Amino acid sequence: MSKNSSINMWSKNASLNGGTLTLCGIPAAQLAKDFGTPTFFLDEDAYRARALAWQNGLNSQFGTHAGTIYYAAKSFICTAVAQWIADIGIGIDVCTWGELAVALAGGINPKKIEVHGNNKSVAEIDRAVSVGVKTIVMDSLFEIERVAAAANKHGVRQGVMLRLTPGIEAHTHEKISTAHEDVKFGFSIASGAAWVAVEALANYPQLELRGVHCHIGSQIFGAEAHEIATDRLIGFMAKYRDQYGTELPELDLGGGFGIAYIDGDDTVEPADVLPQIHTAVKKACAQHNLEIPMVSLEPGRNIVGPTMFTLYEVGTVKDVVIDGGKVRKYVSVDGGMSDNARTALYDAEYTAVIAQRASSAPLALTRVVGKHCETGDIIIKEIQLPSDIAPGDLLATPATGAYGRSMASNYNHVPRPPVVAVKDGKARVIVRRENEADLLSLDVKE
Ligand code: LLP
Repeated sequence: MSKNSSINMWSKNASLNGGTLTLCGIPAAQLAKDFGTPTFFLDEDAYRARALAWQNGLNSQFGTHAGTIYYAAKSFICTAVAQWIADIGIGIDVCTWGELAVALAGGINPKKIEVHGNNKSVAEIDRAVSVGVKTIVMDSLFEIERVAAAANKHGVRQGVMLRLTPGIEAHTHEKISTAHEDVKFGFSIASGAAWVAVEALANYPQLELRGVHCHIGSQIFGAEAHEIATDRLIGFMAKYRDQYGTELPELDLGGGFGIAYIDGDDTVEPADVLPQIHTAVKKACAQHNLEIPMVSLEPGRNIVGPTMFTLYEVGTVKDVVIDGGKVRKYVSVDGGMSDNARTALYDAEYTAVIAQRASSAPLALTRVVGKHCETGDIIIKEIQLPSDIAPGDLLATPATGAYGRSMASNYNHVPRPPVVAVKDGKARVIVRRENEADLLSLDVKE
């Protein structure tokens, strides 16, 4: 796929010809008619291809040292997607009871499940241990005790990893950067907290320390931050070997690989970063005279992000005079911050196209907003769209697969949109639209 072109934002089976957006040959107008709006449309082949490309890339780059691609469920999961993951044979990273439940409902082998979270409840730990997950990633000293107690209770030796904070300022938005020192996640290497955790673990023979993990942040481009993390984590593994005389067999470098959201952005492909990460692993291991560990990764956004677009219908259009007499067109769609919280939360940038017709009207400065009762309910802060955009037009926003539906809310009692998977010219609902009954179902009447 070519770099730096708008094609990066759309999944491989989406195309825009003569103003008509199609997915696997189905025109957007047909999709809207059949499934309503707003709806997330998921290109199933693209999802499978991206997931497989990471595992195949890891296998061919690392050979016998290739670990597992643990798809980060938080980016988007539902039972059907969990079934695809089971079918493809990659692993999954879950961080709550709910994510674990969906992974299991989809038939994912517990031996392909890694459990994360900085505050796993005792019940979550108990369930993870009882179903036999491969590893639980330790995030605090309390948790070490709790997992040890669960392992005792179920009479098993539980595989664990240590989440380390390598002290890296990844160049991304502050709220999605996770591996600098002042964060809630993991054990800091620099402060000595990580070593205290290692010593604490040594008291529990029912816990098997398999290796170390880090996740340095999200929407990261280039391999540099992962290379630095690799170097620091392998340095720590060497210290462990020096102290305990055995080598830790696994290294998990987390996710964070960026994708294109707007024109000119790139999407990281596995081949763009795996060779550099492999070189960093080999170099650090050689330097410390360590065996090369099994290397795993946890991409979420990079797999699912580019595989979905959201289709909205325009409800109202309003010209608002802003500074200097300039006009900004406010285009209101039938969703908003309840299906895309990322613009409000992270100043994320998106683009959009009119999906069912061509327009030769001049472009106009436009803001795409939702239907919620608040000013910050913005999907696209600034975009040039045809000035004849009108109620009834369909507007499609690409690259909404990651942290879109998964972070959706019922704000203003708006039902959350469905997810429709499209494959071989056929579309089917894999998460249905919420309805009025769903919205009322939790309320207890007086
Ligand atoms: N592994 C761990 C332990 C994580 O915490 C995360 C994301 C991932 C893997 C996957 O990261 P990814 O490859 O998707 O970047 N809601 C934010 C992103 C928060 C990510 C949290 N952790 C957003 O919409 O940008």
